[in-house]
Amino acid sequence: MHDEFPLDPELCHLNHAAVGPWPRRTAEAVSRFAEENARWGSLAYPQWLAVEQRLRERLARLIGAVSPDEIALAKNTSEALSVIAHGIDWRPGQTVVGIAQEFPSNRIVWESLASLGVTWRGLDLDASADPEADLIAMCDGNTRLLAVSWVQYASGRRLDLERLGAHCRAHGILFCVDAIQGLGALPCDVRRFQADFMVADGHKWLLGPEGLALLYVRPELRDTLTLRQFGWHMVEQVGDFDRTDWSPARSARRFECGSPNLLGTHALEASLSLIEEIGMDRIWSRLQERTAHLIASIEGRGFELMTPADPGLRAGIISFRIPGIPAEPLYRELMQRKVLCACRGGGIRFSPHFYTPVAMIDRAMEILDETLASRGSG
Ligand SMILES: Cc1ncc(COP(=O)(O)O)c(C=O)c1O
Repeated sequence: MHDEFPLDPELCHLNHAAVGPWPRRTAEAVSRFAEENARWGSLAYPQWLAVEQRLRERLARLIGAVSPDEIALAKNTSEALSVIAHGIDWRPGQTVVGIAQEFPSNRIVWESLASLGVTWRGLDLDASADPEADLIAMCDGNTRLLAVSWVQYASGRRLDLERLGAHCRAHGILFCVDAIQGLGALPCDVRRFQADFMVADGHKWLLGPEGLALLYVRPELRDTLTLRQFGWHMVEQVGDFDRTDWSPARSARRFECGSPNLLGTHALEASLSLIEEIGMDRIWSRLQERTAHLIASIEGRGFELMTPADPGLRAGIISFRIPGIPAEPLYRELMQRKVLCACRGGGIRFSPHFYTPVAMIDRAMEILDETLASRGSG
């Protein structure tokens, strides 16, 4: 498996919650695609479309959708969320319930509905002992939609989607899940979660490139979303350029207005082939070993864990603070010493993946120790 991750030995890559590295096979697929374009142009376009179809099939299997027809490919998570938010037939006075500390895309898109008389209300996660219960309690007769990230980008808190989804379905509330911080880290089952919408870009735990995202809409709801983007590619009669009458594609392709991102498609398809080969159960169990090890190192040093220690309440993100030390300068020093990580929510965020050598985690912690020691003496 190490062959698939030819990371420079100098680098400690603990940043899958930001942008993951490409597996070797992904880099090779992109090189092949580039070479083919340079030599043969688009002669093999039908084969490229076959790769795209394989990508939809892999994404459908990954999330537990019934058919690849349920999968649309968007530019990114934010675009996918916008398709949903601006496709719903809102009525003034309706509310969206979410989380105050969400990644901005998950708040801004719902706030953008204010001109339609729709209000977004965010739960203060820091003040909640039972976020699922509190989110459910915030939903009332005016709540049209509950929108959450599966895993919070800063704290790493994982939500019980099954519990939220069951409540939403029972009360006629739409349930929208931003799965970007979970998909590829742990097994997903969109139907068990009873999610109406699921979105995720491919460049984090899925180890793909930026610029290509999953947009899942529960098939029963597909027709109810008003389309806001139009073009040759979203029609049922795609490719019949002489035809003047048209209707939206019956499949989720109706959400894709123009030319596909086939470069990204080749890359993400290759990345997902690796994920499928290894299997999500195995990936998840290996990732849990690494996060448990990381937590033990953090707690052993007396640092303050921002992520819940309970394995049921987290995924691959582990964030922590060092009492009395501001995170931002520490983060900059870590990055300078090639510990690729992030500064989020006032702490340091480490996000290893299933293949991360435990020795790499140990080295990052040693570099952190050295950084702290040199600050103390400097
Ligand atoms: C929860 C969450 N949603 C979305 C994104 C990224 O959105 P996009 O794919 O639109 O760039 C991130 C990136 O950090 C994220 O953490």
